[in-house]
Amino acid sequence: MTWEAGLRGWNARYAKEGEFWLGKPPRKLLRDWARLLPERGLALDAASGVGANGLFLAKRGLSVIALDFSEVALRLAVERARRKSLPFQAAVYDMALLQLPAHTFDVIINFFFLERPALAVYRRALKPGGVLVFETLLKNDAVTVRPEHYLELGELLPHFADFDIMHSAEAVGCGENRLSEQLIARKPLG
Ligand SMILES: C[S@@+](CC[C@H](N)C(=O)[O-])C[C@H]1O[C@@H](n2cnc3c(N)ncnc32)[C@H](O)[C@@H]1O
Repeated sequence: MTWEAGLRGWNARYAKEGEFWLGKPPRKLLRDWARLLPERGLALDAASGVGANGLFLAKRGLSVIALDFSEVALRLAVERARRKSLPFQAAVYDMALLQLPAHTFDVIINFFFLERPALAVYRRALKPGGVLVFETLLKNDAVTVRPEHYLELGELLPHFADFDIMHSAEAVGCGENRLSEQLIARKPLG
């Protein structure tokens, strides 16, 4: 599938299933660990979709920047943020070309999206003491169609080996037979 076809596919999905996506709660991992995240500062919601996760952080007090390549999803996210007067901004962005300033974010969340070069960008873009909350699907030979979008078992943790690992686990991801890898890691202060 080309990049353009991928984008068309996501835009069509959000145009057709907007209500469904808007009705989804923030991801459980985020809800479960929110109490240990900073409540002030700047957060990045990477590949945010309609922004349920970022809006959850914005409600808790963080200023949120959401990036996604689907303008349809971001429009839904921004409309919801405006209705609730939340500190939430969005930009249409290709995560495959991600560049971020160093030491900028207090929290970065990445749910159900994998662009491997972004991992090094997240490392650098977190402030010292900043927290990464990451969950995405693991490759499963029985059901995975495009393996490049899925993690190998044990692939994620070594990228953050020098971080303080607050949580690392495999979990049942979205859908039957779909395992995800979860990681919550704090960037060292020094
Ligand atoms: C499975 S959804 C996850 C959305 C959200 N993070 C969540 O937890 O519900 C994957 C998202 O990645 C976005 N996406 C896919 N490829 C992208 C790219 N190259 N750049 C930016 N966003 C992309 C899609 O538009 C979609 O919103």
